[in-house]
Amino acid sequence: MTGRARVGILVSGRGSNMEALIAAAADPAFPAEIALVLSNRPDAPALARAEAAGVPAIGEDHAAFASREEFDRALDERLRAADVGLVCLAGYMRVLSGWFIAAWRGRVLNIHPSLLPSFPGLHPHRRALEAGVRVHGCTVHVVTEGVDEGPIIGQAAVPVETGDDEDRLAARVLAAEHRLYPLCLRLVAEGRTRLADGRVEGEGAALL
Ligand code: GRF
Repeated sequence: MTGRARVGILVSGRGSNMEALIAAAADPAFPAEIALVLSNRPDAPALARAEAAGVPAIGEDHAAFASREEFDRALDERLRAADVGLVCLAGYMRVLSGWFIAAWRGRVLNIHPSLLPSFPGLHPHRRALEAGVRVHGCTVHVVTEGVDEGPIIGQAAVPVETGDDEDRLAARVLAAEHRLYPLCLRLVAEGRTRLADGRVEGEGAALL
């Protein structure tokens, strides 16, 4: 036993946030280790990236399961088999079943590329530009039944610059995501941020 929290990361795509978490956890002083990466898309580039970093990675096609819950039960089995205690969603593009959220209550984190509660859901950068906000950013929060609605652990602010388009803004926010997510995972793994009764207690992270 090393005493480090064992983390499972759920991905669907490219996996740059996953890589940021793996890189942080490569430091033995980091309070969490990445035990497993799971994807609902067997062709996700993130899987090869995880394997290249020496992290076990499994792709399982959700379409092969009869229901959302059946698939989530398979995820749950794999996570428990790997002795995972904490789950990080990193570009996981599938809504979790109520069953999974209840089974892992308070132990699933997500990163969303906006300053929640602004712009939950799809296309947050486009909507931020349309709304004309001058400060945008990203949020790490605890996953609850409502999409992008759970209690906030940390946020990073990112300026919107003159002439920004969706891609430029997304790239600037993504760089902030890669700093914020490891910071928030550290707070949770060290017990400095506690998740109790649907609330976040203790410390949080604010990158300005
Ligand atoms: C990130 O912007 C994340 O916040 C959002 O989806 C994107 C995933 O990117 N949920 P990556 O797969 O981590 O590179």
